[in-house]
Amino acid sequence: MNFVVGVTGSIAAYKACELVREFVKAGHEVRVVMTKSACEFVTPLTFRTLSKNPVAVTLFEQNAENWMPAHIELANFADAFVIAPCTANVLGKLAHGIADDALTATFLANKAPVLIAPSMNVNMWENSATQANVSLLEQRGINFIDPDSGDLACGVNAKGKLPAPSAIAAAAIAIAQKSKESK
Ligand SMILES: Cc1cc2nc3c(=O)[nH]c(=O)nc-3n(C[C@H](O)[C@H](O)[C@H](O)COP(=O)(O)O)c2cc1C
Repeated sequence: MNFVVGVTGSIAAYKACELVREFVKAGHEVRVVMTKSACEFVTPLTFRTLSKNPVAVTLFEQNAENWMPAHIELANFADAFVIAPCTANVLGKLAHGIADDALTATFLANKAPVLIAPSMNVNMWENSATQANVSLLEQRGINFIDPDSGDLACGVNAKGKLPAPSAIAAAAIAIAQKSKESK
């Protein structure tokens, strides 16, 4: 199956490398789309090498081989779109239909099932704006894998950790399979 992995500017972005490896190891094709902030944490080159595919970061890049913009190409490619880790900022954009970068534009153009794995500081997670954004997206049929509790990068033991990449991959594969079977 074809998975699009969206990576955002969270300290947990490095775990998305392992997530891509999980999909590749299981024989799936992976394309990665990153926000500009995500590139502060992990480089596109890392994902390009792990996925053996080009990585989308900007909407306006010219690709000599393909006339189609990356967000449309990725949306057409996906059997499932997994955003892991997903920042509070991207949750807000997705809940309100904002599409001002390659990742959020792919989300709007995409019709495949979506799995979001939020990861952030516990206060950001518990903020009523974040919780309202999660509820809105859930009402629209978006799947979530809740953050785990544990030691956070900000030095507290609380909810906000990205779940294990193997658990995210298993949930995404199950969602993609279920959607394929229902067609
Ligand atoms: C060291 C560091 C770690 C961060 N970790 C997170 C995080 O885990 N989750 C989150 O929502 N924001 C986190 N942020 C804040 C985001 O990077 C910031 O909101 C950024 O604008 C997100 O951009 P994006 O949503 O386009 O990727 C962190 C910022 C810094 C400097």
